[in-house]
Amino acid sequence: MCGIIGFVGREQAAPILLDGLERMEYRGYDSAGIAVRSETAGLQVKKTKGRLQVLADLTHGGADLEGSVGIGHTRWATHGEPNDVNAHPHVSGNGRIALVHNGIIENYLEIKEHLQQKGVKFTSDTDSEVVAQLLEFHYNECHSMLEAVGRCLRRIEGSYAFGIICADYPNTLIAARKDSPLILGYGESGNFIASDVTAVIKYTRDVAYMNDGEIAVVTADAIDVFDSELTPQDKAHHQVDWDVSAAEKGGYAHFMFKEIMEQPEAIRKTISPRIRNGRVVLDNVSMPAEYVKGISRIYLIACGSSYHVGVVCKYSWERLLRRPVQVELASEFRYSDPLVDENTLVIVISQSGETLDTMAAMREAKRRGGRTLAVVNVVGSSIAREADDVLYTWAGPEIAVATTKAYSTQLALLDLMGLYLGEALGTVSGADYDEILKEVQALPEKMECILEHVEDVQHAASRYFNHDSIFFIGRNLDYAMGLEGSLKLKEISYIHSEAYASGELKHGTISLIESGTLVVALGTYAALFDKAMSNVVEVKARGAEVLALTTEAYREKMEKVADTTLVVPQTHPVLQPSLGVVPLQLFAYYVALQRGCDIDKPRNLAKSVTVE
Ligand code: M6R
Repeated sequence: MCGIIGFVGREQAAPILLDGLERMEYRGYDSAGIAVRSETAGLQVKKTKGRLQVLADLTHGGADLEGSVGIGHTRWATHGEPNDVNAHPHVSGNGRIALVHNGIIENYLEIKEHLQQKGVKFTSDTDSEVVAQLLEFHYNECHSMLEAVGRCLRRIEGSYAFGIICADYPNTLIAARKDSPLILGYGESGNFIASDVTAVIKYTRDVAYMNDGEIAVVTADAIDVFDSELTPQDKAHHQVDWDVSAAEKGGYAHFMFKEIMEQPEAIRKTISPRIRNGRVVLDNVSMPAEYVKGISRIYLIACGSSYHVGVVCKYSWERLLRRPVQVELASEFRYSDPLVDENTLVIVISQSGETLDTMAAMREAKRRGGRTLAVVNVVGSSIAREADDVLYTWAGPEIAVATTKAYSTQLALLDLMGLYLGEALGTVSGADYDEILKEVQALPEKMECILEHVEDVQHAASRYFNHDSIFFIGRNLDYAMGLEGSLKLKEISYIHSEAYASGELKHGTISLIESGTLVVALGTYAALFDKAMSNVVEVKARGAEVLALTTEAYREKMEKVADTTLVVPQTHPVLQPSLGVVPLQLFAYYVALQRGCDIDKPRNLAKSVTVE
């Protein structure tokens, strides 16, 4: 949830740390800090509440801090309110050890009490400071930082990625991870640790992924990695194949808008390598045909928008696969005593590949004997590495907290996966297979048509941006799409919004519809258009204002009833949400823009949720 960076090399560390933090600010942005060590000035720590810019101003872009070894952190608060004291790095009592942490130390209170009994004084409310103090305690015992880190890790419970520097180690930083991402970067002018490759891509593409339980000792010329018993490990290197510009705004006002516009290309990159001679080819999937034939149940498990992708797939896959497809929130599934056996295929969906609940759900499914397949965007992420099979969405780095291109590529990839499974199970007719595949390939072009006319959505947003409460209604795949439209809107514009299956309205929610209430009526699913219309008429009769979304074929009918109608191109019914979601993303974007919201960094949120 927080962002960590560390650098040790032949250049001044502080400006590099700030630059890396800026690229990871989407991971957390309620406070930030850096610690740097130099021969003359010793261990220097600067940290402050607020955005990274405050820290940059405070240190004149890092120029004020001497030293070529340091660590930095951008925080999303878990323990203790966001303030200067709770910001990282945390420093041990004698001022000689500084630490940054991402994750949660579950037994921190017990350790804190133990250390307090020994006279250790604490300054912050965080679980992270406890680790800094515990490190000093063990270091005083053994006089070796590596050994002290090892002892410390054996004592703590929970999740962590740590970056640590010590005044006694002029050119070394130490890193460790468990259930929280951390990569190692091998650069020309020095070496790095970071939560995310985006932080180091400007300096190096040569990276390695730390595994749970590993400790890394990083110097300017080498990175030595050890397991929890301090046995040296060989690390495989990976080359990051995207460019630094992919993680920059490139002239757009916001990452979110840039990422909305990138969707057609991202879908092309995701689907093209997987379609050959009119067939879906999933090279990386190692499921034997016999296994596929024996699948009795499919779970789609995820959080947030990735979960909404699962909801769309439930509707489309049950039709294609004639198997029960259950979509589950990862945070619920993991504690629900789920029905999983060796004939259960468990598909987890995650942009970041680090969402803790999704990871825990996947582990639970594995433990019960299920076969797991991960649909993930971030290469080398924890979920990708632990799943039995992984399919990457090639969306490139997604920086805005509100996901757009990850959602679209997940959906397109799962459309292919649906065809792949349907063919193997013999449940999809040849004609349906061909038609759906043709339409999947046409999605990018149709999406481009929508993106060429953003002004229609912009106009709708300027008409409706000051509503306080908005309802998204739709049936079947339109309902699934509405869940995402509603989440997009609420997370970045802070407008209260709910998505309802239209048929449910009269079971309670319709009581909230009164004169002027805005209802976003989704009518793109042809099979149920007439039913959707009757719900539009129902809410109109109660005074609602209706912003409708439909396809060209139904424009005329919809325009007769709705106050404003947006139109998307037609595609195969199971793919319609892929197109319909685009105006909903744009609507959320423009509404948030009109309301002056911080679109890329909405309040209380962070991009990657690595805590429970
Ligand atoms: O990285 P993941 O796909 O696992 O993330 C899941 C959710 O946290 C994420 O989709 C979240 O809901 C987004 N902010 C939605 O825009």
